[in-house]
Amino acid sequence: MSYIGIDLGTSSIKAILVDDRQSVVAGTTRDLVVNRSAAQWSEQNPADWITATLAALQDLKQAAPSAFRVCRGIGLSGQMHGAVLLDEADRPLRPCMLWNDGRSSAECAEIEAAEPASRDITGNIAMPGFTAPKLLWVGRHEPDVFRRTRKVLLPKAYLRLVLTGEAIEEMSDASGTLWLDVGARDWSDRMLAATRLDRSHMPALVEGSQPAGRMRPDLSRELGFDAPPLFAGGAGDNAAGAVGLGAVEPGASFLSLGTSGVLWRTTAGFEPRADRAVHAFCHALPGLWHQMSVHLSAAASLNWWAMVTGSTEADLLAPLGETLERPSPVLFTPYLSGERTPHNDTQMRGGFARLGHDTGRNAMTQAVLEGVGFAFRDGKAALESAGSRIDEAIVIGGGSRSALWLSILANVLDMPLHRHAAGETGAAFGAARLARLACTGEDPREICRKPDGVPQIFRPKRDLVAAYADRYALWGKAAGFSRELQ
Ligand code: XUL
Repeated sequence: MSYIGIDLGTSSIKAILVDDRQSVVAGTTRDLVVNRSAAQWSEQNPADWITATLAALQDLKQAAPSAFRVCRGIGLSGQMHGAVLLDEADRPLRPCMLWNDGRSSAECAEIEAAEPASRDITGNIAMPGFTAPKLLWVGRHEPDVFRRTRKVLLPKAYLRLVLTGEAIEEMSDASGTLWLDVGARDWSDRMLAATRLDRSHMPALVEGSQPAGRMRPDLSRELGFDAPPLFAGGAGDNAAGAVGLGAVEPGASFLSLGTSGVLWRTTAGFEPRADRAVHAFCHALPGLWHQMSVHLSAAASLNWWAMVTGSTEADLLAPLGETLERPSPVLFTPYLSGERTPHNDTQMRGGFARLGHDTGRNAMTQAVLEGVGFAFRDGKAALESAGSRIDEAIVIGGGSRSALWLSILANVLDMPLHRHAAGETGAAFGAARLARLACTGEDPREICRKPDGVPQIFRPKRDLVAAYADRYALWGKAAGFSRELQ
């Protein structure tokens, strides 16, 4: 038997095939593009996700044909918050507005005015990246599209709909819509009414480890499965990452250095911290929740800097080496799409500070890595504001391939970071675990173990921690300036 995990990310679709012993048998990545046709807009065409997913499944089949054939279950992980608006024939009415689309600030204020209990029900500030305000934006600017909308799905639920024919969502991703009563793990009629929608517009809800559809028989035959695989509810990408690395006990933390940056803590109950712009969402497993700080441009900042310099990320990083000696003299604020935690401000913008005639590309590249680190330090302070400390974290995400970046983060955050072999962690691996749970009904704590292998540990060094604490104070002024300069 085998299981497939598919992670519908922002920059790519990643798919892996995992065997009964939880070993990764095959893996593949298919790139996606983001369209930014106006300031603050960030969109993707849902049809591109389908093409890339089907290509990824063919890749897995080619790499490991016999394991592929006997795949029993598929788990989906997905970029959160995107709004896929469907008509009565389940056709997308417009491109999907993504999690880092910042156009709907005015509509956030409108939602909170229409439903004053919004923060209590959802545990979160209404932020433009979330799904609900996007619907109000469409209602105002594209009324015909709003009128024709019969269902609103998150990205991975749309993928499920195409692959299985069923409209089903799970709790962790549903938490990011602003339509979920996060404590009760159910849609909130009051939050839906605040955006002129009702339950008929929503998919059915399950837990991430529960069954959620079966592959359409014709597609299953075409792809070459012995029998149509069962789908698990799956998870939002961060919750899938948590399942993949075993962050399923209250207090467990990890740091995700992907396109976005996330510092996560699993909680035993619903623990909102909206005053610090912390996200409080359901976990993908029943009876668990989590908090997270979200930073909109983490690896996205390095990606932007590579684009500006006409270089690649690898070429930018190579001359810096892997050993961290001292902070860069330059400062960078990573607010390219604004910021969620702790600022909740889509209008603020990033920048470099303290440039001189002697400043070169390497100092600026290091400043980009450090600026992302300082944003995480803000996030850690927000998460710790309720009292309990985060003492260490496992790291996942594309950016964690850089040893230098992890050394910077360990010193800026003053805590050890653990990096495991890439295949043992990650959202696609978590999704594959959820697929297995949906098929077997096993105890999640048995399956969602911490990675087996010995991690590489990045430890803070006293002199660098002190040097970065000084830089953080200075960077705070640059961050404040980024807010003022609008
Ligand atoms: C979480 C968030 C991002 C996306 C990235 O709230 O917006 O982490 O899930 O895919």
